[in-house]
Amino acid sequence: MRIKLQNLLIFCLLFGSGSLPAATLLAAESATFNKDIAPILFKNCASCHRPGEVGPFSLLKYEDAKKRAEFIREVTHDRRMPPWKADPDYGHFADVRRLSDDDLKTIDLWVKAGAPEGNPADLPAQPSFAEGWQLGEPDLILKMPEPFSIPAQSEDIYRCFVIPIGNETDRTVAAVEFRPGNRSVVHHAILYLDDSGVARRRDASDPGQGYRSFGGPGFVPTGGLGGWAPGSSADRLPDGVAKALRAKSDLVLQIHYHPNGKPETDQSQVGIYFTKKPVQHMVTGIALLNPRVDIPPGDRNWEITDGVTLPVDVLALGISPHMHLLGKDMQVTAELPDGSVVPMVRVRDWDFNWQGSYRYAEPVRLPKGTRIRLIAHYDNSADNPTNPHSPPQRVRWGEQTTDEMCLCTIQVYPERPENLRQLFKLPHGRLGAALAGGTLPESGWQTLLRRVRQHLSPESDDLD
Ligand code: HEC
Repeated sequence: MRIKLQNLLIFCLLFGSGSLPAATLLAAESATFNKDIAPILFKNCASCHRPGEVGPFSLLKYEDAKKRAEFIREVTHDRRMPPWKADPDYGHFADVRRLSDDDLKTIDLWVKAGAPEGNPADLPAQPSFAEGWQLGEPDLILKMPEPFSIPAQSEDIYRCFVIPIGNETDRTVAAVEFRPGNRSVVHHAILYLDDSGVARRRDASDPGQGYRSFGGPGFVPTGGLGGWAPGSSADRLPDGVAKALRAKSDLVLQIHYHPNGKPETDQSQVGIYFTKKPVQHMVTGIALLNPRVDIPPGDRNWEITDGVTLPVDVLALGISPHMHLLGKDMQVTAELPDGSVVPMVRVRDWDFNWQGSYRYAEPVRLPKGTRIRLIAHYDNSADNPTNPHSPPQRVRWGEQTTDEMCLCTIQVYPERPENLRQLFKLPHGRLGAALAGGTLPESGWQTLLRRVRQHLSPESDDLD
C-alpha cells in the first residue's frame, strides 16, 4: 500500500495534476464501499440485513458496513454468510446463495485498504424489495388466529400453531407462500398438515397459543406444504405437478423464533394457490431415515447410514436434510443402475438453525433400481458448542432438543403417476409422502389419482 501511495504521489508531482481525483486512482487499485462493496452487500446480504429483517444489523449504509468490515470479511471468507449449507459443488440447486471468489477478493482488498467509502457518485441505488404476496393474491389465506408474544430475552422458541383449514374435499396445491408476520424474529417455519386431530389435542393441553415443539411437530403428519427460511422464495411446483391438501386438514405451522432483544409479537400467514392447470403428477417423498440413532457420550464422529432402492422411475425436485444439535455432516448420493453416481446433497458443517430445503435447478431423473445412500456424522463431545448436554450423555432418536434424528426427505414424483403406490410401500414411505406434501394411500389418494388421470379441468377445482 505504501508503495502505491508513493507512486500516486510521484504521478501527481510529475504531471502536476491536482485536477485528477486521487480517489479514482485509489479505487482502481483497492476497492471502495460505494463502487465495489455496496453492490455485493445489496445483492447478497440486504435481503436479511436491513431494518426489520432477521439479520442482527443492517448493512445498507457505509457506516454500518465500515464498523464491521473485519467481521464481514471473516464471515464471508469462512462461508458462514450468506447462510447456505449445501455444498455448491455437490448437486445443482436453484437460488444458491454464495459469494464468488472475486467477491471475496474484493472484500479483502477493501478491508486491507482501511474500508474506504469512495466516490458518492459510484453508490448504486438502495435495493428495493417487493412487498406483499410474492406470487400474487392467494386463493386461500391462513393466518395465526392471534398474535404470539416473543419476549425480549429468552432461549429460541419452537412452537406449533394449529390453524383449521376447513376444506370439505381433497384439493391439489400448485404453490404455497409463507409470509412471516414479524421478520425480525421468525427464523424458520415448517408447514405440516394433520387430519387426525392429534395436533388440536396437543394445542388444547398446552397453555397459550399453540404448543411447544422442537425437531418435529409431535405427531406423524398426514401431509405437508413445505417450509420457509429467510431469503427463501415461495415454493411453486413445476406446471402439472401438485401437492395434496386432504379434506378437513389442519395446518400445523411450526415456527422457530429467535428473540431479538426487544419484546415482539408475530402473526404469520400462509397463502395457498390451488392448481389452475391440469395436474399430471402428484408429489410424494422418499424418506431416508434411520431410527437406530444411539450416540455414545464423547464420540466426536459417530456415523450412521441409510439406503433405499427405487422401485420405479422418479424425478427429484428437492431435498431436505434433518438432524438436531449434534449433527455434523450429511451426504446423500444416488447410484444409478448404469453405474454413474449423482450427487444429491452434501452439508459439511451442519447447523440446526440453517437447515433448509434445497430445490434442484432442474428435476433430477432417477431411474428404477437407483440406490440412494445417506451417510451422516455426529459430534457428541464436550467440544461441540451446541451439545445440549454438559457433560455429554448418550443420545438417541427423539423430537426434543436433547434427542437426535437422522432423516432426509427427497421430494419426488413418479414419472408414471400410477406408480405412486410403490413409493408409499418403501420403508417410511408414508412419512416421506407426508413430509414432502404428498397424500397417503388410505384416504383421498385414489380420488386424487383419478382426477390426475382425467386431467382435471381448471373450473372443477374451484375453492370449496
Ligand atoms: C438469509 C438471511 C441472511 C443473509 C442473506 C445474510 N445474513 Fe448475515 N446473518 C443473518 C442472521 C439471521 C444472522 C444472525 C446469526 C445467525 O442466525 O446465524 C446473521 C449474522 C451475520 C453476522 C454476525 C455473525 C455472528 O457470528 O454474529 C455478520 C457479520 C453477517 N451476518 C454478515 C453478512 C453478510 C456480509 C452477508 C452477505 C454477504 C450476509 N450476512 C447475508 C442472516 C443473513
